[in-house]
Amino acid sequence: MERVQTADWKEEKHVPVIECSSEVKAGELFEVKVSIGKEIAHPNTTEHHIRWINVFFQPEGEKFTYHVGNFEFSAHGESAEGSNKGPVYTHPEVAFPLKITKSGTLYALAFCNIHGLWEGTKKIRRAPQIETRTVTTW
Ligand SMILES: [Fe+2]
Repeated sequence: MERVQTADWKEEKHVPVIECSSEVKAGELFEVKVSIGKEIAHPNTTEHHIRWINVFFQPEGEKFTYHVGNFEFSAHGESAEGSNKGPVYTHPEVAFPLKITKSGTLYALAFCNIHGLWEGTKKIRRAPQIETRTVTTW
């Protein structure tokens, strides 16, 4: 059995969906959005919910993976009055600015409290740098 599961997010509600440009300029901020249940909603109850999303970046052809961020979702209707009676529910979706200097792959790992670890990926290409030349005319 795989420890980290993956599938088509259009058919499997646990797979994190990463949305951002496929091509970005080196060193320029762009927005990344990661969500669970984009196509099929995942439950968000005291008994069954997404606890966190962790995002990583692996530069193309490199050995090491970089941790981008840890996003926790801590409210799922818990309350002194009982399960699902609380006034607050965090939705498993996050958006954040990011910049990269190399092409690579973003990995989003999401944890469901009863269905374990799920992974979604997205490749990002660093746009080719346009050479700037100073032309001097005499
Ligand atoms: Fe689940």
